[in-house]
Amino acid sequence: MYFFYVGFVPFIFLLLVGACAGRSLHPLPRKGGDGNKKPLQTSRPFNIAHRGSNGELPEETAPAYRRAILEGADFIETDILSSKDGVLICFHDVTLDDTTDIAEHKEFANRKRTYEVQGVKTTGFFSVDFTLKELKSLRVKQRYPYRDQQYNGKFPIITFEEFISIALDAPRIVGIYPEIKNPVFINQRVKWPGGKKFEDKFVETLQKYGYKGSYMSKDWLKQPAFIQSFAPTSLVYASNLTDLPKIFLIDDINIPTQDTNQSYWEITSDRYFDFIKKYVVGIGPWKDTVVPVKHNYLQTPTDLVTRAHAHNLQVHPYTYRNENKFLHFNFSQDPYAEYDFWLNEIGVDGLFTDFTGSLHNFQKWTSVDDSASKLLHKIALMISSYKKV
Ligand SMILES: *[C@@H]1O[C@H](CO)[C@@H](O)[C@H](O)[C@H]1NC(C)=O
Ligand SMILES: *[C@@H]1O[C@H](CO)[C@@H](O)[C@H](O)[C@H]1NC(C)=O
Ligand SMILES: *[C@@H]1O[C@H](CO)[C@@H](O)[C@H](O)[C@H]1NC(C)=O
Repeated sequence: MYFFYVGFVPFIFLLLVGACAGRSLHPLPRKGGDGNKKPLQTSRPFNIAHRGSNGELPEETAPAYRRAILEGADFIETDILSSKDGVLICFHDVTLDDTTDIAEHKEFANRKRTYEVQGVKTTGFFSVDFTLKELKSLRVKQRYPYRDQQYNGKFPIITFEEFISIALDAPRIVGIYPEIKNPVFINQRVKWPGGKKFEDKFVETLQKYGYKGSYMSKDWLKQPAFIQSFAPTSLVYASNLTDLPKIFLIDDINIPTQDTNQSYWEITSDRYFDFIKKYVVGIGPWKDTVVPVKHNYLQTPTDLVTRAHAHNLQVHPYTYRNENKFLHFNFSQDPYAEYDFWLNEIGVDGLFTDFTGSLHNFQKWTSVDDSASKLLHKIALMISSYKKV
């Protein structure tokens, strides 16, 4: 266990340094990157902080994103939706019910609506029926009852621009990974001046803050970003507007695409990969479709990753979670065993995790070309030779 204690000291130090560099809650975003920052690591699969460090703090809030940055995220991930007045916000669900205190706001009691969202009649308080000012009066809470509840009611919803400012203000280069969320629904409910669409506003926001360039280009490495969506038409449309790399998200096997109504089998066929690879650099599948699960045990892995790689497409599966209830029995309740399997046996190129710190530690402690791990190895050799004496 000695490596644990040695590794932990610099980690604590990093946390302290990071905390002292904190800034006011909603600074205006800066334009352009800082040439002197520590670059994005590109030697190992990407650690994608799913909705920030939402295993620890309420999802998609500024503290959740700042925590993920302190914990070593390569990319901070977010879902983009819109307010009634067309401001892009970071929020996962189309309704506010599950992750905000909307129920306690009597002034909004008459805003409950029922809309059809991706073919399903959905009832609740929809973000598209609230102005940004109204949304800002709400506070976010934890989605899951078994996670830390002490931060409920403390943090506001943030805008896409505020999210970008968090990434640009990070002490090293941290990428962003925003999703064009529910584009069919958003374009139905929200109208922008000049006939602009949700996708136009989304890409304009990225461009306003200097995000541009193809995957691994000089511009991209300065301000890395992946655009993700479950809707292929949004990705094709966006590829007309920006050459930033795009990731095609793939839902469970029984869920058709929200815009083109295509089946899982169709969009994961070689023929479809041949088509979509002109627009995207990779796919983001639900992990249980890559390695099917029965009675909480993994079954034989599918050939999805092999076929995607054969088409030169990266694979970034979602979502990795530390809690026992999410760990399949093969992993003996050990999230590191799960990371080991996906990184070293399945061979994925990035992982969406609710616990960025765990993935970061696993990668740090096991990556051979990491200078810290070399040092630890040296220390281990010194200790073992000392024992021999
Ligand atoms: C891309 O842009 C061109 C030129 O403006 C336009 O003709 C074409 O329809 C666009 N394609 C898509 C998929 O939006
Ligand atoms: C989507 O496709 C399924 C299967 O082909 C079909 O039954 C359904 O009617 C389609 N839905 C829409 C909205 O077109
Ligand atoms: C998971 O465990 C089951 C039951 O022991 C076994 O059949 C299966 O091969 C294991 N899967 C993997 C990928 O190791």
